[in-house]
Order: sequence, then C-alpha cells, then structure tokens
Amino acid sequence: MSKRVITFGTFDVFHVGHVNILERCASLGHTLIVGVSSDKLNFNKKQRYPIYKENDRLKIVQSMSFVDEVFFEESLEKKREYIEFFKADILAMGDDWKGKFDEFSDICEVVYFPRTPSISTTEIIEIVKSI
Ligand code: CTP
Repeated sequence: MSKRVITFGTFDVFHVGHVNILERCASLGHTLIVGVSSDKLNFNKKQRYPIYKENDRLKIVQSMSFVDEVFFEESLEKKREYIEFFKADILAMGDDWKGKFDEFSDICEVVYFPRTPSISTTEIIEIVKSI
C-alpha cells in the first residue's frame, strides 16, 4: 500500500464533504498530496474569488491529519505536470469530475469517489446569502 495519491480542489468554505473526500483519498495509499487551486485560478475559472484566501484554504487542508503534502494549483493545464512532479500513483477526485481526468490513466490510476450528498461550497454561500 505504499502508494502516493494526489487530489485537487478549491476547498473554499471548508465543509464535511471536503473532509470525506480527503479521508477517502488518503485511504488509497500512504501519502496524500493535495493541490489547492490558487485565488487567481479560481478567478479565471469562475470570475469571482473564493471567500477564503488561498493561504487560509491551504492551511486548513494542510491541518487535516490525513493530508501529507499541499501545494497551490496555479493552472488547470498543468495537471499532468503536477502528477509527474509529485510522482503520484493515483489521482482521486469526487465523481462530479467523472471521466474528466481519464486522459491521465497512462501515467497513474484514476479514481472517482461519490460526492457527499447535499453539501457544497456553492450551496452554503447561497444559504448564507439568503438569511
Ligand atoms: N466534494 C465531495 N463532496 C461534496 C463536495 C465536494 O466529494 N459534497 C469533493 C469534490 O468532488 C472535489 C473536492 O471535494 O473532489 C473539492 O471540491 P470543491 O469544488 O472545492 O468543493 P465544492 O463544495 O464542490 O465547491 P463548489 O460548490 O464551489 O463547486
């Protein structure tokens, strides 16, 4: 089981769905590496910045007992480079990404986990806005 696992995400307004996916990813190997998307990457993708700043999002993810290494994901186009740089054996993501990373199956195993139902950063923001 000496496998290196990598996953990616924004992890904004950190919630139990994030804990669950990180726990599931960690269960696949002995080292879990997490790419936390930078504020700039999120702005380019969604035309808005995350609620929590990148350093805080990174610190929260890093504080989880089952996370071993963290780094900023600066570009969506660099996934292959990150997988190779961190020598990941497995890429694991929530199944909202199902199929989207199959192109990397030539360099690592690609695993999708079911999302935790009924919770997301977007939903939390909407609920807070409506109160
Ligand atoms: N994730 C999950 N279950 C949830 C929410 C997220 O398993 N209920 C997983 C995603 O599939 C992804 C990782 O957590 O692998 C990081 O997702 P992220 O996009 O940061 O969280 P979301 O809550 O989905 O954020 P948003 O609503 O902004 O898309």
